[in-house]
Amino acid sequence: FNVDASSKSARAMPDNLFGIFFEEINHAGAGGLWAELVSNRGFEAGGKNTPSIFDPWVQIGNDSNIILSTERTSIFERNEIALKLEVLCDKNAKSNPCPSQGVGVYNPGFWGMNIERGRLYNVVLHIMSVKSVDISVSLTSSDGSQNLAQHSIKGQKFLGWSKVEFKLRARGTNSNSRLQITTSKSGTIWLDQVSVMPSDTFKGHGFRNDLASMLSDLKPGFLRFPGGSYSQGGTLMNAFRWKSTVGPWEQRPGHFNDIWNYWTDDGLGFFEFLQLAEDIGALPVWVIHNGISLNDQINPSSLPSFVEDVLDGIEFARGDAHSTWGSVRAEMGHPNPFKLRYISIGNQECLNGNYRANYLKFYTAIKSAYPDMKVVTNCDGSIGKLDHPADLYDLHVYTSASDMFSKAQLFDKISRNGPKAFVSEYAVTGNDAGKGTLVAALAEAAFLLGLERNSDIVEMASCAPLFVNDNDRRFNPDAIVFNSDAQFGTPSYWMQQFFKYSNSATYHPSTIQVSNYPYLLASALTWEDTNSRRKYLKLKILNYGSAAVPLNMSMSGLETTISSNGGIQAVLTSSKLSDENSFQEPKKVAPVLTKFAKAGGKMSVMIAPYSLTSFDLLL
Ligand code: AHR
Repeated sequence: FNVDASSKSARAMPDNLFGIFFEEINHAGAGGLWAELVSNRGFEAGGKNTPSIFDPWVQIGNDSNIILSTERTSIFERNEIALKLEVLCDKNAKSNPCPSQGVGVYNPGFWGMNIERGRLYNVVLHIMSVKSVDISVSLTSSDGSQNLAQHSIKGQKFLGWSKVEFKLRARGTNSNSRLQITTSKSGTIWLDQVSVMPSDTFKGHGFRNDLASMLSDLKPGFLRFPGGSYSQGGTLMNAFRWKSTVGPWEQRPGHFNDIWNYWTDDGLGFFEFLQLAEDIGALPVWVIHNGISLNDQINPSSLPSFVEDVLDGIEFARGDAHSTWGSVRAEMGHPNPFKLRYISIGNQECLNGNYRANYLKFYTAIKSAYPDMKVVTNCDGSIGKLDHPADLYDLHVYTSASDMFSKAQLFDKISRNGPKAFVSEYAVTGNDAGKGTLVAALAEAAFLLGLERNSDIVEMASCAPLFVNDNDRRFNPDAIVFNSDAQFGTPSYWMQQFFKYSNSATYHPSTIQVSNYPYLLASALTWEDTNSRRKYLKLKILNYGSAAVPLNMSMSGLETTISSNGGIQAVLTSSKLSDENSFQEPKKVAPVLTKFAKAGGKMSVMIAPYSLTSFDLLL
């Protein structure tokens, strides 16, 4: 393995080569990264016509004690539905006393709420009543038997809609808890917009701490959002439209995610995506709705309003705090503009007959208002010259492990002119991939090594999908698996950790060869730890074959010498190619780090079969 680390053959790598792609799929956001514990918090999921179903809320008490129904009595214009509780029993009535636990309603959250002892939870509810109420708001186990935290509202009248806020500190732990709102007093009560959020979220911005930390640990250069197909919607009616997702959370209508088949309250809206990008040190990449959904599309006469909508969205993100939409952002707590520099005109609609015409309208309007904005087309610029202007072209690569391995060469022969590539979705899928196997991760590593080598024409890449709530698998495999209280990275997540120092690094050409063994791929780069200001030479070696390989490594041309103090070796492998991680064995396939004592310009190492190995050598 020979590395030419001289400055004359070195090349700067893109600042945002590796990033992440977040899609609202598999309950990645609602019931996932967004830390809201209440599902269907505004009772809107059943639709605008009443009476409607209000799943997953469940009645506590039988029909002779309480009647629940939905009504359009909310004070919020864009989400009119509220829940009416007609309590027929009364603790003091001889004929119909309430059961000892009271009657009311509970919400199980998204497959159980994770409540942890000692933790504080912010509770908000909107309430109206015809007479004074005695209600109890509690966090309990899934059968209601274990009371983990409770707040009582006694003798208060809410003749008009009132917002009630308080904190609950949990005195027990249960990852399958629920929120209960109960009473033993007859009367009518209306509830609307009920929220329970842990008070300690990532950077205080509402993201689940453990999941957001896993994202920031990848040091992503960019965050592409909100989809994927989710950004298009199955139909126009159900697509993600940014204006419906900003402003106070109580006033957001929410929408049905008709691509992945679940309701989202849109707590994780446009503002929160921009905030998330900032919080994890990534540049936002907004995938806009270009007027084409999967099963319908706009009438061309409506295109100008869609274009206007996108310009408004850009103003929301980066206009000054006094601009029309910038002021909405400022009111939401972010007076400074977000760093929105990339816009994708849709997701994968290139083959639609109207795509180009729509694209050009968006492109022209965006570029004339924001000349520095980089615009991404989803027509494939790798197979020939594009017939429309673009800064980048988007490519989605889903394939088998063997084909992904061969795609390490995908960009080697592609023209060096024209727009750069953005591989915004890549993954090994199908039988090889299972729910995230070692072989899938290794094949993806081959692909990424190819992208590094071609990073003169590949500007960005991200895997897909990022998250899966284990209770709602819509797409396999995914990088991060979670349930209400636990999470783990699949081998692909850990593989991506090997590439997290590639952004802004310096690439050095290298050759790797062992006769009759075409299964080795490698890359070499130098990177600087921004905290310690130390510089490292990073060597990555993929062995996609079954032999252990003794390897002589030689690094020449470096301006600084390799410190003899050694370095760190990381190895990702496992006993079987089909090995996966799980809640029981979350790190069965994860990098094993070892320090080695001596390093130098020449080193002899042993590379394990079916492995990805990296050496970080201190310079
Ligand atoms: O990543 C899952 C889906 O695959 C995305 O929504 C879509 O863009 C692609 O087809």
